[in-house]
Amino acid sequence: MYDIAKIRADFPILSRMQGKYPYTYLDSGATAQKPQVVIDKMRELMEKYNSNIHRGVHQLSGVCTTMYEESREIIREFIGAESTKEIIFTSGATASLNLVAYSYGEKYITKGDVIVVSEMEHHANIVPWQLLCERKGAILRVLPFDDNGEIVMSKLDEIIDEKVKVVAITQSSNVLGTHPDLRTIIDKSHAVGAIAVVDGCQGVVHDKVNVAEMGCDFYAFSGHKLYAPTGIGVLYGRKELLEEMPPFMGGGDMVSHVTFEKTTYAELPLKFEAGTTPYLEAIALGEAIKYIETVGIADIHKHEQKLLKLATEELKSIEDIIIYGNTEGKSPIISFNIKGVHPYDLGMILDKMGVAVRTGTHCAEPVMTHYGVTGMARASIAMYNTEEDINNFIKAVKVAVSMLK
Ligand code: ALA
Repeated sequence: MYDIAKIRADFPILSRMQGKYPYTYLDSGATAQKPQVVIDKMRELMEKYNSNIHRGVHQLSGVCTTMYEESREIIREFIGAESTKEIIFTSGATASLNLVAYSYGEKYITKGDVIVVSEMEHHANIVPWQLLCERKGAILRVLPFDDNGEIVMSKLDEIIDEKVKVVAITQSSNVLGTHPDLRTIIDKSHAVGAIAVVDGCQGVVHDKVNVAEMGCDFYAFSGHKLYAPTGIGVLYGRKELLEEMPPFMGGGDMVSHVTFEKTTYAELPLKFEAGTTPYLEAIALGEAIKYIETVGIADIHKHEQKLLKLATEELKSIEDIIIYGNTEGKSPIISFNIKGVHPYDLGMILDKMGVAVRTGTHCAEPVMTHYGVTGMARASIAMYNTEEDINNFIKAVKVAVSMLK
């Protein structure tokens, strides 16, 4: 039994009122709200335990180091990695993807090589690869999607050929909700000798992930969409690859010995964790995952899908609504527009009624270009949303339609 009342009570911000309206938060795709256990953990850490990790023999440094490494183990288990050496803490998914593009690219990409991204990628899984192409004289190729929001799989053989060295693909589109067929895309990448880099930001939140089964070489996600604080993210990478890659950033903690003549680097995973990491946030991420597991990711998935279905049916019944992305099994994300209306105008009316949705390009401008629009509104659903949230949302959209059309 999915105890939605209890879950909601665990997230203090959800009891907020916006004027006379209850707060209807449908922007968890941008960032999720935080449960009390995560808030309490951050406070407890700062009040009682804060001390820099891996840098002291004093008591609290040891306590924080232990909790930090315990969190790494929680994450390893959560995503099904083989070893904690494969779990790198970063400041977020963007940093994780830049790390791979820079470090793997530095070593393995040369002039004329091809990098493939899909047309539905978030900018964080496009721009680092473009920067790499500019540095190395490599070429960026794009795997397109069709108007329904499905990757055009018939193009796979043409796009992913022997010249391709990296295929960077989302697990779940932050605009369309689409889950590309990762199995086929990853197998195809490996068949031509390319690595597969998966952006798991929107995927890890709604579905059980097992990177070993997925077969990807790298997997990136952020803590803040996973009910944890901002400033923390994860890069999973296959050990054999991480071991061969040069460090991304130099500084404290990533070294073994430093002399002016030569520096040797720390073992994995610390080789990629230069400087003081957001260790409190990393510990809180472990706490967020423990919380998710008490609810159960399979039950969260079921609950969110039920609300997605309800919201989609209701939205479709409103005249002049265009929904972008209608694929089977999509994530609980609905991007939409009212015909002829700017999404900012829509978003502002929804906000007046306490309903928070994202508006704009969603950091995925090529998706906007595909549909010939400058922006969209997006409602994204999380574990704590209710049927009442969906009803409030639909009511507000109807008011917006009546005012703007
Ligand atoms: N990437 C986040 C989103 O899709 C911020 O809203």
